[in-house]
Amino acid sequence: MSSHAGHVALITGAGRGIGRAIADAHAAAGARVAYVDYEPALAEEAAAAARERGCEAIALSADVADDEAVGLACRRAAEALGTIDILVNNAGISPKSGADGRRAQAWEMSPAEWRRVLDVNLTGAFNCMQAVVPGMREIGRGRIVSLSSVAGKTYCDIVGVHYAASKAALIGFTKHLAGELGPYGITINAVAPGRIDTPLVRGTAPEANEAARLATPLRRLGSPEDVANTCLFLTSDASGFVTGQVCDVAGGWLLT
Ligand SMILES: NC(=O)c1ccc[n+]([C@@H]2O[C@H](COP(=O)([O-])OP(=O)(O)OC[C@H]3O[C@@H](n4cnc5c(N)ncnc54)[C@H](O)[C@@H]3O)[C@@H](O)[C@H]2O)c1
Repeated sequence: MSSHAGHVALITGAGRGIGRAIADAHAAAGARVAYVDYEPALAEEAAAAARERGCEAIALSADVADDEAVGLACRRAAEALGTIDILVNNAGISPKSGADGRRAQAWEMSPAEWRRVLDVNLTGAFNCMQAVVPGMREIGRGRIVSLSSVAGKTYCDIVGVHYAASKAALIGFTKHLAGELGPYGITINAVAPGRIDTPLVRGTAPEANEAARLATPLRRLGSPEDVANTCLFLTSDASGFVTGQVCDVAGGWLLT
């Protein structure tokens, strides 16, 4: 499939989990892809595997919360691959407090922990958007997708309030920017995954994952590929009249 041939995609948190599946899906669809991750070794390994499959891919290391590092990574990606016209804000964290995988309780959460989650999950998306929008405006085409969560729309007992607030804020970010960016040919949407089987979720108590599976009408956890396929549609030419939307990828779990 070459639905994305000629396009340049930058995916954050692309070293593993959902981000890697999104980056791999874009590479397989013909895009030139920058795999960006906080962990250089993860990004290198993922991009090298894509190159072995014949795809055009580079690895870049950046903390999305650091606006200078993000600016540098985006400049390097554009120099190596061309103007970035697809951005997927996937990098995100969901810290747990206890060794038992229990979520952080709001009343025992440190201000530093609150700030770090907001800095990565929300400000990270803002930093990346600022770095790529000038190029997208120049070429008159852009696709931005951010990873929200069903936990940003309703109560979810395995995440902390910092995570829920950051994912809810990404929905406002998406809707506001749809208005600002639309006149320049740039669409922006969000996906809201349910429980997806990734290293992040494997840190959760197995009983909680089993309860989520049973509460999901489709009776399974999602796969990273389920999320990647939805992102691939939202970054394609086929979704050109879709903007400001939040698409649940949750098997019907926590319908809101
Ligand atoms: N797994 C789920 O069930 C689920 C559900 C809803 C939403 N999400 C969201 O999907 C996204 C991906 O989740 P996942 O389960 O694949 O997570 P994960 O922890 O398995 O992978 C996250 C990746 O992001 C990277 N990363 C973390 N902080 C970073 C930073 N500051 N800068 C750059 N890279 C950073 C990590 O190194 C890692 O490679 C997150 O935004 C998460 O909140 C996940």
